[in-house]
Amino acid sequence: MIKVGLSGSTGRMGQVFEKLILESEKFSLSNVYNKNSPLESWVPKDIDVVIDFSLPEALKEVCKWCNMHNKPLITGTTGFEDIKDVVDVTSLKMAVVHSGNYSLGIASLIQSLKSYKVFSHEARIWIEDYHHQNKKDSPSGTAIKISEALKSFTATKPIKINDVRAGSIFGIHKVHMATNEEWVTLTHRALSREVFAKGALELVSWIKGKTAGLYTLEDFLNHEVNKN
Ligand SMILES: NC(=O)c1ccc[n+]([C@@H]2O[C@H](COP(=O)([O-])OP(=O)(O)OC[C@H]3O[C@@H](n4cnc5c(N)ncnc54)[C@H](OP(=O)(O)O)[C@@H]3O)[C@@H](O)[C@H]2O)c1
Repeated sequence: MIKVGLSGSTGRMGQVFEKLILESEKFSLSNVYNKNSPLESWVPKDIDVVIDFSLPEALKEVCKWCNMHNKPLITGTTGFEDIKDVVDVTSLKMAVVHSGNYSLGIASLIQSLKSYKVFSHEARIWIEDYHHQNKKDSPSGTAIKISEALKSFTATKPIKINDVRAGSIFGIHKVHMATNEEWVTLTHRALSREVFAKGALELVSWIKGKTAGLYTLEDFLNHEVNKN
């Protein structure tokens, strides 16, 4: 059993993690962090890997804790650019994975974008970014990541992101590329929050054995693809 410390345990994502970990035979839940359950109560020897899906101010404290107690960290907290320094410092000493979206479908969509390189040069490109109405950051980390992936090879600029925050949408991302003659749309829909938690849990055993550094979901996927 891999012992997990869970930050953001009372949140929408945290509750999904708690359920999946409690149902799992691979993981056990040792300590949780939220505003009513402080990090000071965590027992380092009871934790192998820390998972954080919280908010940047909480992630900052989690990074310090991981740094102090030599624990690898998997974080999905978005809007963290202001505290990136703290994450970077932690990754000098420990293995840290950050991804703004742990869906394997989104990771595959992003990897496929490069095949549109030639087509994209003459196209207008825009992204639609749909999330639930309580999401704090806008545009989402995923929309930014899609946009950055496109910008790395296409001459088309700017790439506009239209964001919609409504209802309880788990996450829909659409990439449009249109010329006068044809219009391509790539769509990804997250059908439940479990997709992100399951993706992050896939990385737990992998990160346990990694040396210090800042890793991405793509590093994990490339490792898995090359392994098989
Ligand atoms: N990477 C991905 O695949 C992915 C997917 C979905 C969501 N996310 C991101 O994951 C994060 C969490 O999303 P969510 O929808 O679960 O958010 P949420 O429902 O607002 O939950 C936030 C959690 O963080 C805790 N928290 C906030 N501030 C804290 C502080 N100062 N000290 C201690 N704990 C604190 C909250 O504790 P209290 O209940 O005590 O306030 C709660 O447990 C967001 O950044 C979201 O964008 C990432």
